[in-house]
Amino acid sequence: LDGVLVYTDKFHYLAWKKMADRIGVPFDETINNRLRGVSRMDSLEIILERSTRKYTQEEKEDLAEEKNGYYKEFLKKMSPADVRPEIRGMLKELHKRGYQLAIGSSSKNTKFILAQTQLTDDFDAISDGTNITKSKPDPEVFLKAAEYLCLFPNECLVVEDAASGIEAAKAGGFCSAGIGDANSADADYRLEKLSEILTVVNQ
Ligand code: G1P
Repeated sequence: LDGVLVYTDKFHYLAWKKMADRIGVPFDETINNRLRGVSRMDSLEIILERSTRKYTQEEKEDLAEEKNGYYKEFLKKMSPADVRPEIRGMLKELHKRGYQLAIGSSSKNTKFILAQTQLTDDFDAISDGTNITKSKPDPEVFLKAAEYLCLFPNECLVVEDAASGIEAAKAGGFCSAGIGDANSADADYRLEKLSEILTVVNQ
């Protein structure tokens, strides 16, 4: 979802930054890049590596909630216009060719983002931060997605923008396609544009 179909990276960055600035912990784009595909609490742990004090579990939960509040304000402004027409066309074309489509995302805001951008009906199954206990590079999120589609991992293609996602796909026995940052990772296919999936699946 994030970084493949929609670009929420900047919203995550601004929301984490606002929280980190308030508690006086240094946070920049380099740290933000390490958060891709990582769960909310694990992301917070990465950010707090730079903190000079320790936080209790309860304080950490409050910080994660604070960040999510800022983040959701950005998400509320998202609309169908945030999904490029060629991406919508590609999803429809994949369905037409008989493929099933699932989301495999660590985000607990997945369903909200899909609703805001009117993408919900384009997917047959959703595996997200609400049904997993381990974040990527653990393959759990993709294994659940395959299970919801009643498919074996070797019948699926995982499309990822994060190196940790490509690692997760491999660990779960999935074929993978990398886009963006993951284009240089260890993916089976490297995509310049998402619409190139249409040529990959025909091979
Ligand atoms: C979570 C993390 C975020 C990460 C995202 C991956 O999103 O907070 O850092 O990039 O998963 O999709 P959230 O559940 O907070 O929406």
